Amino acid sequence: MAIDFNNESMIFSLHTRHSTYQMQVGQFGHLLHLYYGSRIKDEMDYLIRYMDRGFSGNPYEAGLDKTYSLDALPQEYPTDGTGDYRITCMTIKNTNGTYSCDLRYKGHNISKGKYNIPGLPSIYANKDESDTLEVFLEDATNQLQVTLYYGVIENTDIITRSVRVVNCSKEALFLEKVLSANIDFLYGDYDWYGFHGRHTMERQTQRSKIVHGIQGVGSKRGASSHQYNPFLIIAESKTTEDHGNCYGLCFVYSGDFKAEIELDQYNQTRVTMGLQDEMFSYQLKTEASFYTPEVVMTFSGVGLEKLTHNYHDIFRNNLIRGKYKSMPKPILINNWEATYFDYDGKKIIDIAEQAVELGVEMLVLDDGWFGNRDGDMSGLGDWTVNEKKLGCSLHTLVNRINEMGMKFGLWFEPEMVNEDSELYREHPEWAFIIPNRDPIRSRFQLVLDYSRVEVVDYIYGKICNVLDSANIEYIKWDFNRSISDVYSRSGTSNQGAVLYHYMLGLYNLLERIVQRYPNLLIESCSGGGGRFDAGMLYYSPQIWTSDNTDSIDRIRIQEGTSFAYPISTFGSHLSAVPNHQTGRTTPFETRANVAMVGSFGYELDLNKITTIEKDQVKKQIVYFHKYWDLIHKGDYYRLTSSQDKQQFAAWQYARRDGSEALLCSVTLEIHGNMPAQYVKFKGLLPKYDYIDMNTKKRYSGKALMCAGLPMPFMTNEYQTWQVHLVKVQ
Ligand code: GLA
Repeated sequence: MAIDFNNESMIFSLHTRHSTYQMQVGQFGHLLHLYYGSRIKDEMDYLIRYMDRGFSGNPYEAGLDKTYSLDALPQEYPTDGTGDYRITCMTIKNTNGTYSCDLRYKGHNISKGKYNIPGLPSIYANKDESDTLEVFLEDATNQLQVTLYYGVIENTDIITRSVRVVNCSKEALFLEKVLSANIDFLYGDYDWYGFHGRHTMERQTQRSKIVHGIQGVGSKRGASSHQYNPFLIIAESKTTEDHGNCYGLCFVYSGDFKAEIELDQYNQTRVTMGLQDEMFSYQLKTEASFYTPEVVMTFSGVGLEKLTHNYHDIFRNNLIRGKYKSMPKPILINNWEATYFDYDGKKIIDIAEQAVELGVEMLVLDDGWFGNRDGDMSGLGDWTVNEKKLGCSLHTLVNRINEMGMKFGLWFEPEMVNEDSELYREHPEWAFIIPNRDPIRSRFQLVLDYSRVEVVDYIYGKICNVLDSANIEYIKWDFNRSISDVYSRSGTSNQGAVLYHYMLGLYNLLERIVQRYPNLLIESCSGGGGRFDAGMLYYSPQIWTSDNTDSIDRIRIQEGTSFAYPISTFGSHLSAVPNHQTGRTTPFETRANVAMVGSFGYELDLNKITTIEKDQVKKQIVYFHKYWDLIHKGDYYRLTSSQDKQQFAAWQYARRDGSEALLCSVTLEIHGNMPAQYVKFKGLLPKYDYIDMNTKKRYSGKALMCAGLPMPFMTNEYQTWQVHLVKVQ
């Protein structure tokens, strides 16, 4: 059993293969956090120092003892109103208007298998690979019961957390803040990694020192956002890719979130993660319960790359579901950058015919095929095929594509409506608009109120009608604005709960579609990577990483994305030059190598490329098939960092058994009389020899890892170089 409870010391120990997480029921029933780090068998309560500290109050039961203060003690689930003035996980507004909640231990339950969370995505695990701890806490005054859930997936070094709140009193109360996880570090110098960005420049890596005060990330956009990813790394200040202690917290949720860090007055570090509390106020009625989304935590004692591998493993094996969990996704061509809205059925057939000749496996018809949608001002919400534009029914078009030997995929943006649409004219009350106020428009669209069951049911019916009408094997599920004007005209008095119910509505819809169409591949998208999060991965094993298809920007975007999310989940396409987002021109081969960091595809009119490039496309497709297994299932290594001054970027894949590796690099800068550049490999077996499959030269794994290889002298910027190594038996 990975979870122990010592009845005498009242200490819980959660063990994974390389980590231990400990907490203790304190003398007054508070749950105190003791330790998270390398696996140990000791009980770590000796670490806690009790001291009399000014302006840090004491619970009443402490009597004359001034050394017991929740303002200083490390806690498992801190709440407001207990004399802890740091950031907390929970704020309750009681019926009498007070803000206090004092949770004490009532009992616990340890069981085999992993809990799941009703209506929310979460990590799944078999009984033989996982254990669950439930700790029952209660506030005796307002009769609020809180269950802390811990899922331990021992072999993967993963611990998951979630919280259930039940109102057992006779009166309704308000949850003003209810987070999912907290970690308190008693001491230490830490840095934090956040992944910030913007539309077309998502998940830029930023490492900062944790300083006194509160720092962190969050979203109030109704989506996890381009701006801040719901993922944090806390790293001891000397931690590198392959050295040092670091911790990850990743939120399995696609809506508003908050992740904060505070270095307190006693140099203790607190980290919290969960639902955004701004504009959240959830009325919890008598007997009602509330579940928080899950936080997936991991610890690595050997640097960031192991932390990354832990996340890649758990998301590939225990989050992603369905047919494409472990099989290659089709290499696709998407018509968006080739045509935008300006197409008809013939243009699409022309693109498909050329693509299939070169070996592309699926045609994805992007925005513009439905309703009155020839631009972004109209049509969203009207999910009926525009046969006039296509020149035939969808069924006929798909049949033609299938007869060519290609699969067919289709774009949807199911959560949105244009004011200029049949749906809006019929149901204006289904869009988020605050009475007597003009709504914020974004891309001329409004957001549908998915907190209403009838809206979700209606859209479900419409999507099913389209999917049932033709052999559609993929959908791109887009979401192209931030949510504003949150107000449900469903008659609810619980308006502060609407965004949370919106997410439940979205997840419910996705789940119904996943269940009804088990062979359907869903690629999630939000203006590129505005909803690239673990919540969406539960339904869609592929996410469009960014609307930016420029290789050089993509290297940075993909690097940031790689810290938590598996390479197999990155939607990545080779597009035309000059690039539509940056105007930059990069070589065809570089564009391909960068787009192969992910689920590969094309986003241009292949009729418009040269004969030499067409030949290259054929080779790229063969190449991607050859390396698919290594790229998608191997261990990913960041060999360079966008945090440093870089003359080149390099990354690498290695099979975990050390049998094969693939290194890719791209020159970022070129100067006169360049110094030689070297690159060192990772993940090889030092005692074995490897053959470089291009040059046929033989090197030991040790030489390749300790001394590396010189890179060829580049004659121009943005050139690419690859090395494929195979272990000598
Ligand atoms: C978003 C997507 C693009 C494309 C357009 C269509 O911006 O990220 O890939 O699908 O919508 O409107």
